[in-house]
Amino acid sequence: MAEARIIIDRDYEKATVNPLVFGSFIEHMGRAIYTGIYEPDHPESDEQGFRKDVIQLVKELNIPIVRYPGGNFLSGYRWTDGIGPRENRPTRLDLAWKSVEPNQVGIDEFVDWTRKVNTKVMAAVNLGTGTPQQAGELVEYCNHPGGTHWSDLRKKNGHKEPHGIKVWCLGNEMDGDWQICHLSAEDYGKKALEAAKIMRWVDPSVELVACGSSGPHMSTFPEWDRVILEYLYDSVDYLSVHRYYEPDDDMNSFLASFVDMDYFIKTALAAADYVRAKKRSKKTLYLSFDEWNIWYQKRGIFHSEPWKIGPELIEERYTLLDALVCGGLLCTLLQNADRVRIACLAQLVNVIAPILTERGGKAVRQTIFYPFQQVSKYGRGTVLEPRIFCPEFNTNKYGGVPQLQVVPVLDHEKKSLNVFVLNCGESPISTELILRGYKKSNPTEHEILAGDDLGAINSIDNPNRVRLTNAEALPDARADSFQTVLPGYSWNRIRFSTI
Ligand code: AHR
Repeated sequence: MAEARIIIDRDYEKATVNPLVFGSFIEHMGRAIYTGIYEPDHPESDEQGFRKDVIQLVKELNIPIVRYPGGNFLSGYRWTDGIGPRENRPTRLDLAWKSVEPNQVGIDEFVDWTRKVNTKVMAAVNLGTGTPQQAGELVEYCNHPGGTHWSDLRKKNGHKEPHGIKVWCLGNEMDGDWQICHLSAEDYGKKALEAAKIMRWVDPSVELVACGSSGPHMSTFPEWDRVILEYLYDSVDYLSVHRYYEPDDDMNSFLASFVDMDYFIKTALAAADYVRAKKRSKKTLYLSFDEWNIWYQKRGIFHSEPWKIGPELIEERYTLLDALVCGGLLCTLLQNADRVRIACLAQLVNVIAPILTERGGKAVRQTIFYPFQQVSKYGRGTVLEPRIFCPEFNTNKYGGVPQLQVVPVLDHEKKSLNVFVLNCGESPISTELILRGYKKSNPTEHEILAGDDLGAINSIDNPNRVRLTNAEALPDARADSFQTVLPGYSWNRIRFSTI
């Protein structure tokens, strides 16, 4: 059996994890809202039409922030369509997804929903068809206490207290020609700067996210990021990046998607740091990786025919293999916790999502639900930098890649160390975990996501086919180290109580 050694020293702290890296995203797209979170005639709906079964599952994911309302949808959205009495709201064509938008959920209802699931809104302003003035008015509607047109309208619409939305995205994927009113980097930089000024004048406490590149595949990457930041560096807090993964070569390259994500993060940061140097600025910019996931884009089906409300769009059925890839990507986000301060799994319900619902029926946890839930629950604290000695696995795209992805997260308060390990190898690997700098450490849990069939999915009829199991035995203590076997193609969480 192949062997590995992982050394985890308590003193080798890398970064404190910002909980906002466990964020997610809900867009007015497909069945994310309509028959996803909102389905008034569903037997489990509450008085506002929100599905209680979905609320329960979202709560399990422990998500601190949800980006809303888009996505590509954002760039043609009039936010005022979604406020006031529902019966007066217009039904419109959504040109981003060629769907019909009934506007039965808007910013007020979404804020209510986020409170039900113990999360917060990460709002986005339309910088496609929208203007900087409209962006400022939305901030005023949401965050101004009262006594003005927009804040009093919010009160009239049933929300006396301000929504208090802190984080705001300045548009969405404005570098992409698929975007409604796509802009050049110069034009976006200028428009976003004016929007940022107005938004901060309305509420100086907001944090702003500039639209960075929609992926490393963009021919404009990383020049787009450099140019826009020359305008925006002093006015924003985060640069956004987006990236979706799918197999386009051998399976091992897909498993190693984390290599690409790490490269993308480092390159986007290099562009940001270049601008910092050029401006002689002391300010550090952080990344908001506010769309990431696995998305089989080559399968197509981005638009519905004919126009309808809540069409089935990009409802991936995630496999065990996808869950392992998701685990690897989560490791990379944590390994970059010093600079990635926000991240959003895109999306949350039905549309490329960990939660899948049946119209009028059940809701299930897809395979990717599990690694995300574990890292969101147990990955808060301080990321430690381990030394890893393990074999490599071969990939067509990236050459030899270490077979184990390992991220230890220390929770000082709870006196616990959670070690997340992805084994990308086909075979089990005998692994020695050496913990240094602790007076005492005891393994208390070892959960595994693995199985014989990497193509296995969870469905409405078989919702628990892929799920976490407990290892047969906890790591075996030998002198100052622990010995365990990590199954082939497996995602693992090993917890130690530590003093
Ligand atoms: O999440 C689906 C879409 O992917 C979003 O609308 C867009 O921002 C991205 O291209």
